[in-house]
Amino acid sequence: MKRYQQLAATLQQRIKQSEFQPGCRLPSIRSLSQQYQLSKNTVIHALSELEQAGLIQAQPRQGFRVVVPCQPLPPVQPRQVTLGAIAFSVLSAASRPGILALGTADPDSRWPAVHNFYRELARSARRRSDDPHRNSHYSAPPGDPSLRNALADHLNATAFACNSEEIIITQGAQEALALTLRTVARPGDIIAVESPCYYGTLQCVEALGLKVLEIPGDPVSGTNLVALEQALAQWPVKALLTNPTFNNPLGFTLDLHSRQQLIALANQWDIAIIEDDVFAELGFQNQRATALKALDTEQRVLHCGSFSKSLDADIRLGWVLPGRYFEQLNYLKYVTSIACSGLLQQCAAELLRGRRYRRHLSQVSRAYGERAQMLAEDVRQYWPDDVNFILPEGGMLQWFELPTTVDSDQLFNQALAEGIGLSPGNLFCTDQRFGHHLRLCFANYRREEKQLKAIIRLGEMITRSD
Ligand SMILES: Cc1ncc(COP(=O)(O)O)c(C=O)c1O
Repeated sequence: MKRYQQLAATLQQRIKQSEFQPGCRLPSIRSLSQQYQLSKNTVIHALSELEQAGLIQAQPRQGFRVVVPCQPLPPVQPRQVTLGAIAFSVLSAASRPGILALGTADPDSRWPAVHNFYRELARSARRRSDDPHRNSHYSAPPGDPSLRNALADHLNATAFACNSEEIIITQGAQEALALTLRTVARPGDIIAVESPCYYGTLQCVEALGLKVLEIPGDPVSGTNLVALEQALAQWPVKALLTNPTFNNPLGFTLDLHSRQQLIALANQWDIAIIEDDVFAELGFQNQRATALKALDTEQRVLHCGSFSKSLDADIRLGWVLPGRYFEQLNYLKYVTSIACSGLLQQCAAELLRGRRYRRHLSQVSRAYGERAQMLAEDVRQYWPDDVNFILPEGGMLQWFELPTTVDSDQLFNQALAEGIGLSPGNLFCTDQRFGHHLRLCFANYRREEKQLKAIIRLGEMITRSD
């Protein structure tokens, strides 16, 4: 089979499997040629095959859209989540010392900015310990003014207009998510999420006694808005929790039109939107998608961010701009953990001053882009041809669709026995739908010998179960 025919067959299969839904836009010629490492002419040839077969249609200035006759979307049902204990044990096993962690979303923390942060922390701690008159006192929510001011300046310069009074500092985005969910919902309420979605969200939903409504997503166009609209019409959803930029685990970034539609749906059905934007600052080309927060005219978006992905997950500092829910969330933060460490907050504020942090972000993002490419090249070389993936445009996570004969839970156990940690697809849903999928993290992928050997070994395991 020629290369363009192979690509046409792959795309056709993805359309059949509803990965590209009817009406959805295919990736651009440029990104298909990058993703599959094929020339533009080969991609154009493959697309015209599909067009002749009546599967896709060229649209002026919009590329190609899928025109497969619309299958009715299966209705989605709210579910209780029962993932927590399993996910916890899978994740604990994969983070044991000595395991090569290829699956967890750990940033690379070996950057000058992170080093400077810890030096500043050491200096501040020394100043404190040397101060004979120092009295201990509790910090209070919403957070240290120095960090709230510096963060407001940073967000105004890079993301959306806001002022420091809108910000509450949290212990990472995970606490922000838990607080937002507790603010907008009560046990038994329904929360819509993208599916697959970050397991931390599912675990949090489970711990709070909420139900999830899993709205299908795909690695190119993201959340299926038709399915979301149907679900909102059918179920009394309290909030949509979304990770719209460099999504975990699928990698998509929702386009502006879809973001506008999401906001319109939230307004129409009077629901809150919890925007988990932890990867937003990691666009490989330094690009930043318009935040849902920036489009929200009704103060219904609770926007969450964190330093965990851009600096170091161990800093445990994040933030939330909860819009109209500020007072309730601030009180919940207070009764839950009083406040975050003042010392850490002041050091983070110091880091944000000036342009250092922004320079750091572009350095990290560029490196992550190169590492994503490197991982993709190695996977193409050492894994079977029928492994599908779409390169994301930012973040640190790569989602793989393996041949259907591969059981990624088994692969996880097999790899773990050989010292390799992965994130199997079923961690990201409530109903075992992603049993032949896998998530890897490329943030620390430098093609070191041990990493390359692991990728080669995984390729052998996948091939054997094929
Ligand atoms: C999408 C998403 N949201 C939130 C978190 C938690 O972030 P934090 O470390 O800031 O609590 C993670 C961590 O992996 C994540 O992937």
